[in-house]
Amino acid sequence: MVDINDIKNTFLHDLTSARTAGDLQNIRIKYTGKKGIITAKLKLLPTVRQEEKPAYGKLVNELKVFIQGEIDRKESQIKNLERNQKIAAEAIDITLPGKYTQPGRTHPISVVLKEVIDTFGSMGFAIEVGPEVELDYYNFEALNIPKNHPARDMQDTFYISDDVLLRTHTSPVQVRTMERSKPPLKFIAPGKVYRCDADVSHTPMFHQVEGLVVDTDISFSDLKGVLELFVHRMFKKDIPVRFRPSFFPFTEPSAEVDISCILCSGAGCRVCKGSGWLEVLGAGMVHPRVFEMVGYDPELYSGFAFGMGIERITMLKYSINDIRTFYENDIRFLRQF
Ligand code: DAH
Repeated sequence: MVDINDIKNTFLHDLTSARTAGDLQNIRIKYTGKKGIITAKLKLLPTVRQEEKPAYGKLVNELKVFIQGEIDRKESQIKNLERNQKIAAEAIDITLPGKYTQPGRTHPISVVLKEVIDTFGSMGFAIEVGPEVELDYYNFEALNIPKNHPARDMQDTFYISDDVLLRTHTSPVQVRTMERSKPPLKFIAPGKVYRCDADVSHTPMFHQVEGLVVDTDISFSDLKGVLELFVHRMFKKDIPVRFRPSFFPFTEPSAEVDISCILCSGAGCRVCKGSGWLEVLGAGMVHPRVFEMVGYDPELYSGFAFGMGIERITMLKYSINDIRTFYENDIRFLRQF
């Protein structure tokens, strides 16, 4: 009896100090394992006096059941505790501020490009596109740009081979579109162009929008009317516009379109170099040679064409003085649009 009580007390002591499932397993082995204390006691049964056997057996068995029950109870306690600790460790504090991802926004060049496209779209212009890797023929030859023209210099043009290059302007789309269609034509051709040049007003890649209108009886006054309306919509209604005589091999006559300087309103400043005017685009009446190259009869058809740099227009609209800022990906700059 004393022995059984001692065993029970040591067991209870062991159980109280158990902290993990591993500790419990050791206790299980110590008491009810093959070589455990209780097992040893049961093995002694045959040596117990006959009349004491039932009482002894009962006592040891009861202790065994008690020990097993206590171990099971403690085991579920420990499991609960471990689960609660795990849940606590994995808890998410929903009151903490979230991780903020700055949403992107439309690049200023895309904003202005869309504005240009929408403006001409509202005047009934369709959209045409052409390849950026272009044949010398479409980029120069068919546009009446002779072999020795300075624009063909290796310094300005990225040549891929003798007759393949990166287009230096969107004008080849004029030729490609006329080649595959019959007049009347009225479209713009937006896209990327490439020139071997880099400074505050030049990047090796930039964007242009070309325009072409061809029909019978298209006159210079059509050109003036369309481009004046365009400039007024893009900049400011009633901003003074002037058409200044110029030269392009693919138009005759040719003109450059200027607007009154946005900064000094024509008085003359550093930006307009004292002239009071800012150049926005080039234009002209399609040269008869260009029509001949695509098989249009220059006696029957006439047309006007124009071309503009989107970076330049964006710089004028937002008073940006360095073209390179468009392509530096500086968030502080891009956020302003
Ligand atoms: N292609 C010219 C350039 O890159 C721009 C241009 C001027 C296009 C006059 C035209 C035009 O169609 O008529 O500078």
